[in-house]
Order: sequence, then C-alpha cells, then structure tokens
Amino acid sequence: MYILAIESSCDETSSSVIRAETDACGVPQLTILSNRIASQIPLHTVYGGVVPEIASRAHAEAVSSLTYEALQEAGISVSDLGAVGVTAYPGLIGALLVGVNFAKSLAFANNIPLVPVCHIWGHIAANYFTHPELKPPFLALVASGGHTSIVHVKSYTEFETIGRTRDDAIGEAFDKVARVMGMPYPGGAEMDRIAYEGDASYLKLPSAAIADETLDFSFSGLKTAVINHLNTLAQKDLPYNRADVAASFTQAVVSSVVKKLDAALRRTGETKLVIAGGVAANSHIRTALEQYCAKHTNIRLYLPEKKLCGDNGAMIAAQAYFEYSAGVRGDTTLNARATL
Ligand code: KG4
Ligand code: ZN
Repeated sequence: MYILAIESSCDETSSSVIRAETDACGVPQLTILSNRIASQIPLHTVYGGVVPEIASRAHAEAVSSLTYEALQEAGISVSDLGAVGVTAYPGLIGALLVGVNFAKSLAFANNIPLVPVCHIWGHIAANYFTHPELKPPFLALVASGGHTSIVHVKSYTEFETIGRTRDDAIGEAFDKVARVMGMPYPGGAEMDRIAYEGDASYLKLPSAAIADETLDFSFSGLKTAVINHLNTLAQKDLPYNRADVAASFTQAVVSSVVKKLDAALRRTGETKLVIAGGVAANSHIRTALEQYCAKHTNIRLYLPEKKLCGDNGAMIAAQAYFEYSAGVRGDTTLNARATL
C-alpha cells in the first residue's frame, strides 16, 4: 500500500510517500518514494530559536505544494493512497494544527483512512528504512531538539519510556551552548564538527546522567556549567577556544548517554540498541556507541541514516503504517496535542 504522511511539529514542513509491503516471512518492507522537506531554519535563525507563530505560518504556506510535489515525485495520485498519516503530537501546538487540519481535509475529502502518529515514535521508525531486518523488541535512545528519552520498544506500536530528561533536551543543550558562543541556530551540527579540533580535557563538567537508580538525565546543569564558565571569561575579558568548549561539552554528553544506555540495556535485557532523532546524527555519539557495542558483543547497534535523523515525513509514514496495521484511525474530531 501507499502511505502519504505530513510532518509539521516544529520547524520543518515535510510531506512524504512510502510504499509498505510485507515480505514472504511477514517482515515489513518500507520504501521511500518521496520525502520533501521545507526547512524553516533561515526564518528562525535571526531570532536564535524557533518562533512558534512564524513556524505555523510557514507550515501553512508550504504544506499544500509540498504534498503535491511529494505525490508527483512518487508517481502516484491521491486515489492510490491507502492511508494518510500525520504527526498529531507532541510539538508546537499551532504548528501541529496546520498538519493535522491539512491531513484531515485530504483524508476525508477523498475517503482515505487517517492515521495520527506520535512524532517520537516516528523518529524511532526511521530506522526501519535503514535496517529492514530490525524488529521489536529493542531499546531506543530518542535524542532531538525537543525530546530526550530512553524507550523500551516492545512491539511496532507499544512503547514504554523508561528514562527521560528532567529538564532540557540534548539538542536544546547543544544549541544553547552554541548560541552563547555566537554560533548560528541550530548549532548542534557545527558543535559536532568543531569538537574534533578541540581538547576535551579543557573543562571538567558535571555528568548529565542523574546519579540515582533511574534512567533519567539532566542536561540543564551541564549546559549551565558551560555557560557560567563562558560568562566568567567574558566578565574578565579572557579569550577561549570554541572547539575546546565543544569538545569538553560533547565528551560530557557522550559519557552520560553511554552510562544510562548501559544501565538500560542491563535492566531490560535487550540486545538491540537503536538511536533516533536529530542528535542521532552526532558523530561522537555514534562512534562512542559503536565502541561500546564492540566491547559488549552481545549488543547489536542500529544507527539511522543521517538524512533520516532530523524531522521528516517518511518517518511519520513508516509509523503510520504500523499504527494503521494495528487498527488506529483518526476521525473528524482528531486534534493536535502539544505533549506526549
Ligand atoms: O529531531 P530534530 O530534527 O527536531 C526535533 O524534533 O527537535 O532535532 C533537531 C536537533 C537540533 O537541536 C539540532 O541542533 C540537533 O538536532 N542536531 C545535532 C546534530 N545534528 C542536528 N546535535 C548534535 N550533533 C549533530 N550532528
Ligand atoms: Zn523531531
């Protein structure tokens, strides 16, 4: 079947068409036929972060033509669609409403089933394109600009969040440290790049892995420690090397993530580890987890393709397929929700 999905939870409007089939062994095979993404980053960069009102307007301007292009590129028409998926939660409420209302109109005007999708489960589902052999159960780290959680994926549609950030998301912390160093929004990818040129021993930083029996993180303390250091230097008019700060911060993030994932793997007994979300593109996190799995040979690591880490419609279409197969449908009362 063909599935079209719309993503509009934050600062990327995306419309994608996928083909979903099951092979002779009953394993789902998902193929991306189009994945159009209109990034709003240039609109928000001047403000140093996402402005919700601007985001909603830009989604409204982009969604219709983007969907037309996605169908054209896939070589199908609306009447070929078996389902319309849409990110219904969590995210910026005004931004989500644009996608939800558009998807509702498209689905009900054409008599096509509508499938609401959770954005976070969508990030995890991006991995099924890269690794068609991947099957739940497994453990997933979801790390993005708005969310950071450790999720026990029990089936394609059953999820238990077993660890979470108690304050900032990882991507948010990356972006804030980058901003204080004068780097453009969002600074995560640039922090990744310059960290290679820096000395990670420059700053001793607190761990973001909360020192208790939970699988929770706190990135706010780590971020504040870096920002306080930078403010102190600024007050004294002392110079610093951005790369050293990026390397020290990245090392603290990486060791915190590995620590809690190690605890989560031991606690759940899972042997498959998946990462997802915009920060899953971070090369230092990817390398550290590869090294961890080289040491712990019973654990298999699944890394998503970098281009599928950030927000996109294909990941929503993938999760929509599983929700559709489990009988999930949205009706005319479907609403968007800001929270999980
Ligand atoms: O998943 P995503 O596209 O949007 C949300 O759902 O939030 O994630 C965006 C976040 C931003 O904070 C961005 O700076 C961060 O992902 N990011 C990175 C990297 N690439 C994107 N953070 C660290 N290293 C990267 N290579
Ligand atoms: Zn996201």
